[in-house]
Amino acid sequence: MKKDIAYRIAQTIQTGLLHGVLVIDQEFKSVFLNHALCDMWKIEQQDVLYRSVVDIFYNGNLKKVSGDYQGPLIQTMATGQELSACEVYLNVPGSRESKWFLVSTFILRDENGLPEYAVGNYIVIDKFKMFETKLDAVNMNIIKAFCKAIGVRDMYTMQHSENVAALIVGLTEYMKLSASEVTMAYLAGIVHDVGKIGISEEILNKPSRLTEAEYEIIKRHPRKGADILQEVEEFAALAQIVRHHHERYDGKGYPLGLQGESIPWISRMLTICDAYDAMTSMRCYCEPHSIEEALIEIKECAGRQFDPFLSGIFIDFIRECNFEVGNQLAAENT
Ligand SMILES: [Fe+2]
Repeated sequence: MKKDIAYRIAQTIQTGLLHGVLVIDQEFKSVFLNHALCDMWKIEQQDVLYRSVVDIFYNGNLKKVSGDYQGPLIQTMATGQELSACEVYLNVPGSRESKWFLVSTFILRDENGLPEYAVGNYIVIDKFKMFETKLDAVNMNIIKAFCKAIGVRDMYTMQHSENVAALIVGLTEYMKLSASEVTMAYLAGIVHDVGKIGISEEILNKPSRLTEAEYEIIKRHPRKGADILQEVEEFAALAQIVRHHHERYDGKGYPLGLQGESIPWISRMLTICDAYDAMTSMRCYCEPHSIEEALIEIKECAGRQFDPFLSGIFIDFIRECNFEVGNQLAAENT
């Protein structure tokens, strides 16, 4: 290929392409990243170029606690295996949010056929868009209004709700449940804490542990959330799920102390996803658990706090799918 054509193609990828492109060498140093990737990841080119992405984004850890490689591109460079159109829910490196990405990776080989560079192609996808088409516009707007209301009051809860929705969608897809069940699980994840709208910001964003009295107030949110949702006729089933997302399998939860399989099954899934995200997220008053620590905790609490059957599936799902919610979001006022 003529040199000037190669240069013009590189220029087009650099400035004109809407997909993010990142190229790393055998030492995981970035040798090329385009403008779209910088916009997507909220990073500056000069801060990343010719530096190890493992050092910059993952504190020098090539692998996650689970033993898997940090992201598809690093996995490709380390294993020599190209990946095609993986849907991954990743931390946006330069920000505090997580997004769904569609990632494909390619190997550039030297003259001896050995991997020299790995190329990652990143597209931000609106995975949740598909759920919107399943609801009529009015109901979807109501759900969006709830989300907005949660976000205005409490940024942590909004990101937490999105993480829980991503987890429960991943789990229900892993279990090969029907499209309508996956949709219901998604909605439940998004709105499960909507009852927190009725709780004072002082308590919601308290930077230290809650007192017993404050905890009693927090405990009202499943019932309040269900009451809000019940106002919309079509959300009756959703209200039921939200009402029971803090019940425990052993009957010691709230608000009704339901036990075992008398708790709606999506609520039982929600309880696990909710606890997992809370454990692995950065809150202002405690250090997050590692993925492995959180999974051990879920295993230990199976049969007491959590449905034992669903806990086992959840643990398999996180391990097998390498599913990671990248929530590092602390409360806004910290
Ligand atoms: Fe909750």
